[in-house]
Amino acid sequence: MVCFRLSPVPGSGLLMLCLVLGAVSSYALELNLTNSEKATCLYAKWQMNFTIRYETTNNSHKTVSISDFGAATYNGSFCGDDHNDPQIVMQFGSGFSWIVNFAKESSSYLINSISFSYNTSDTTTFPDAKKKGVLTVNDSVGFQVPLNDIFRCNSLSTLEKDNVVQHYWDVHVQAFVQNGTVSTKEFLCDKDKTLTTTVPVIPTSVPSPTTTPTPKEKPETGSYSVTSSNGTCLLANMGLQLNITQDKVASVININPNTTNATGNCHSKTALLRLSGSNIKYLDFVFAVKNDNRFYLKEVNVSVYLVNGSVFSIANNNLSYWDAPLGSSYMCNKEQTVSVSGAFQINTFNLRVQPFSVMEGKYSTAQDCSADDDNFIVPIAVGAALAGVLILVLLAYFIGLKRHHAGYEQF
Ligand SMILES: *[C@@H]1O[C@H](CO)[C@@H](O)[C@H](O)[C@H]1NC(C)=O
Ligand SMILES: *[C@@H]1O[C@H](CO)[C@@H](O)[C@H](O)[C@H]1NC(C)=O
Ligand SMILES: *[C@@H]1O[C@H](CO)[C@@H](O)[C@H](O)[C@H]1NC(C)=O
Ligand SMILES: *[C@@H]1O[C@H](CO)[C@@H](O)[C@H](O)[C@H]1NC(C)=O
Ligand SMILES: *[C@@H]1O[C@H](CO)[C@@H](O)[C@H](O)[C@H]1NC(C)=O
Ligand SMILES: *[C@@H]1O[C@H](CO)[C@@H](O)[C@H](O)[C@H]1NC(C)=O
Ligand SMILES: *[C@@H]1O[C@H](CO)[C@@H](O)[C@H](O)[C@H]1NC(C)=O
Ligand SMILES: *[C@@H]1O[C@H](CO)[C@@H](O)[C@H](O)[C@H]1NC(C)=O
Ligand SMILES: *[C@@H]1O[C@H](CO)[C@@H](O)[C@H](O)[C@H]1NC(C)=O
Ligand SMILES: *[C@@H]1O[C@H](CO)[C@@H](O)[C@H](O)[C@H]1NC(C)=O
Ligand SMILES: *[C@@H]1O[C@H](CO)[C@@H](O)[C@H](O)[C@H]1NC(C)=O
Ligand SMILES: *[C@@H]1O[C@H](CO)[C@@H](O)[C@H](O)[C@H]1NC(C)=O
Repeated sequence: MVCFRLSPVPGSGLLMLCLVLGAVSSYALELNLTNSEKATCLYAKWQMNFTIRYETTNNSHKTVSISDFGAATYNGSFCGDDHNDPQIVMQFGSGFSWIVNFAKESSSYLINSISFSYNTSDTTTFPDAKKKGVLTVNDSVGFQVPLNDIFRCNSLSTLEKDNVVQHYWDVHVQAFVQNGTVSTKEFLCDKDKTLTTTVPVIPTSVPSPTTTPTPKEKPETGSYSVTSSNGTCLLANMGLQLNITQDKVASVININPNTTNATGNCHSKTALLRLSGSNIKYLDFVFAVKNDNRFYLKEVNVSVYLVNGSVFSIANNNLSYWDAPLGSSYMCNKEQTVSVSGAFQINTFNLRVQPFSVMEGKYSTAQDCSADDDNFIVPIAVGAALAGVLILVLLAYFIGLKRHHAGYEQF
């Protein structure tokens, strides 16, 4: 993850931007333009790539693809004023520039045009180009968006003109941001609308794989352990899924055991399992002993790097999960949720933990979480019995009442 804080750009106030490295090779770009009062006035987050076809000196054609925007700058980006419309101006690579123009109308704004320039004089990107110089393609897109709405287009959009193919996806953009607050009201592009509205209307026997949102896969089960001078002292096998809710949006992160390390420590009354990895700064599970005969998960303390470049941290040391007798392990194969706070929960799969009394690096007998369910049977049975008694009493009462009533009618 790369974050830049640029010095003030003339005319646009403070410019702050983050370039967030996406999963493999695709970058999510994010631009947060602020005005002189440091309030957000233009916000954009998007992904894109370009494919350029050009003619070579021996009259054949070559294509180059641009999808690395690692060293982009945004000089000239501007929120707009009384005389000039807002624009996003981005420079990247060897002489590329990309400009988006916006315009305001009475109750809406326009994403007016997208202009892309490249310099074929650059011999590393365009070896043996026949025509040398700066070439520009300017597309009038003319998206009209209601004022104070954020435009969203997760679907792939393609612009094709004069030897350049531009792909855009995961686009969020709002110009003329009011009061420094990016809107939560989304204005969807047509393609996103059809994804969410028209699909359920058409009854088809075969569900279309492209239109049903794929449910998040189950996380892979990891095997973690903590070793002290006496050997392995803590064992944990589990698939972990983090669910972080921010601004009413839940992001679900599966923990990949292949890129997650376990450390920790073991004491007689407490034990710590700390997981860390590429996007997890730390995820601490603290176990404690109660009444000298049982253990439980007492605390979770987490810090995660989010895709938007921020860090999410939370801790709760007043939990009570995974309760089992000392000398045994706690096991739960079905999905279970550890609710750390309203904004953070952990879904666990194929769980087995033993934080204390590990002998020879092996699990002891397990207490299964289905036993937790058994605990509910007693209150349910008592409740059902009480309800039965109540119904009998009511029945007796009504029958008595009816007899009594009928008695009067006869006379
Ligand atoms: C944009 O930057 C401002 C000022 O730093 C910050 O208050 C705001 O939360 C940021 N907005 C987004 C959507 O990142
Ligand atoms: C043109 O040059 C490229 C390498 O620059 C070569 O691969 C290609 O075969 C050449 N074509 C012709 C028709 O000479
Ligand atoms: C550009 O992005 C589109 C959509 O994600 C993808 O299908 C395409 O392969 C990408 N092209 C390049 C050259 O990376
Ligand atoms: C963009 O601005 C920064 C400082 O604000 C400067 O160092 C850099 O050279 C500029 N880049 C271009 C392409 O003008
Ligand atoms: C295009 O690239 C060439 C070679 O790198 C450079 O000399 C020239 O100034 C560039 N043109 C523009 C307009 O940036
Ligand atoms: C692209 O064309 C529009 C009009 O179609 C114009 O307003 C805009 O300035 C042009 N953009 C660039 C960078 O030349
Ligand atoms: C911005 O603030 C003004 C004054 O506080 C208020 O009237 C207006 O409704 C706000 N606009 C939005 C979009 O929240
Ligand atoms: C190691 O084992 C011995 C004997 O069981 C025990 O007294 C000691 O406290 C253990 N040390 C640690 C660090 O667990
Ligand atoms: C994530 O948390 C939110 C809010 O608590 C909840 O609505 C959603 O179902 C959870 N998603 C998963 C996959 O657990
Ligand atoms: C983890 O590694 C195993 C074996 O190398 C592999 O089969 C599996 O797909 C990997 N899992 C992830 C999520 O990368
Ligand atoms: C795990 O630990 C090893 C050794 O300390 C280290 O080289 C590796 O980078 C760590 N992996 C992660 C994902 O932190
Ligand atoms: C969570 O862990 C971090 C890092 O060890 C520590 O600085 C912080 O105090 C812990 N928070 C709580 C509430 O325990």
